[in-house]
Amino acid sequence: MLRRKSDMKKVIATITALVMGGSLAACGKTSSSSESAVSNPGDKTIGIAMPAQNLERWNSDGEFLKNKFEEAGYNVILTYSDNNATKQNNDVIGLISKDVDLLLIAAVDGKELSKTLDEAKAKNIPVVSYDRLIMGTEAITYYVSFDNATVGKLQGEYIKEQLQLDDTSGPYNIEFVGGDLADNNARYFFNGAYDTLVNYIDSGKLNVRSGKTTFEQVATTDWLPENAKKDMEKNLNANYPSGTQLDAVICSNDSTALGVTQAIDSTYNGSNQPIITGQDGDEENLRNIVDGKQAMTVYKNLNDLTLVTFEVCKTILEGNVPAAGLVDSLPMEVTYDTGSYNNGKKYVQSYLLVPYVITKDNLQLLVETDLYKWNDDGKYLSKVK
Ligand code: GAL
Repeated sequence: MLRRKSDMKKVIATITALVMGGSLAACGKTSSSSESAVSNPGDKTIGIAMPAQNLERWNSDGEFLKNKFEEAGYNVILTYSDNNATKQNNDVIGLISKDVDLLLIAAVDGKELSKTLDEAKAKNIPVVSYDRLIMGTEAITYYVSFDNATVGKLQGEYIKEQLQLDDTSGPYNIEFVGGDLADNNARYFFNGAYDTLVNYIDSGKLNVRSGKTTFEQVATTDWLPENAKKDMEKNLNANYPSGTQLDAVICSNDSTALGVTQAIDSTYNGSNQPIITGQDGDEENLRNIVDGKQAMTVYKNLNDLTLVTFEVCKTILEGNVPAAGLVDSLPMEVTYDTGSYNNGKKYVQSYLLVPYVITKDNLQLLVETDLYKWNDDGKYLSKVK
């Protein structure tokens, strides 16, 4: 008896995966399930490539993943690439030359690794795309992330609710601040938010004074706060003369929200506090949320993401095919998706976790993840190191 729509989705996904699963068995170091040799983890090495350490979240991802695999007995080589696509490509070439048994990559630029990863495929090294989809190569076996369009949609819906767009006449002034052009996720974040608000923009209830309404126009180089600050200061000086109210800014993540908040502090002359969105639950942004300088952040539980990623990789390393059935063994809500993320070569089998909104009213949810704790002042949160 299928109780929920999601059960039906799982049944369909399972059937799909059983059909696809046979083809997958041919594309990696896998053996038929009947002979699946539970290999000794100590003989296996995972190559993990993270994009940078100057953006808070990737340090946590790298450490969580490394610890998870090493606790299970695997060897790990972890690289960070200073947000430089060329450096990351060289880092991955290095990992392949060390004959790692699996590559786990959060790409700086999802389009820059295709040739190198084709070599990984030739050496039968499975490649799992972490958080950001790697484009243009058949080598990608699985993609593990959050539903990225939902991240943006949550931000757009939050603005819609806070401005009561269906119950007030407006007009309201809004701006959009996106992520890095090379980050495949960033476009999903922007589109998720923009598509949620486009009808209000078209009707004139929401007014984008800068005229910047495409992802390319609102992208922030390397996601860096200083670049978001500079872009927003320029926008405010050009389009928000003294007394002009800016009601909301959709920032795709917390590092850009930090820069926008700094620009509001330095350059905005309006009497109101614009509603600013974010993503990731970075420490300084959580302080700004408590202090009312940022309204919300979309939180993606990295413990959950690393756990799902570990289970997918472990299944592959043991010579099995993860497919749809894996989600039934996981303690959190995960959607197995085979029709959303096309990397230019194929629809990549994806495991998508569920993001959620954090405001000053539900910060305790972060503490309950065991990844944050209340400071002694009982007012601000810090990450559990
Ligand atoms: C995205 C990631 C976000 C965001 C950004 C900056 O790809 O999904 O969590 O923080 O990168 O690193």
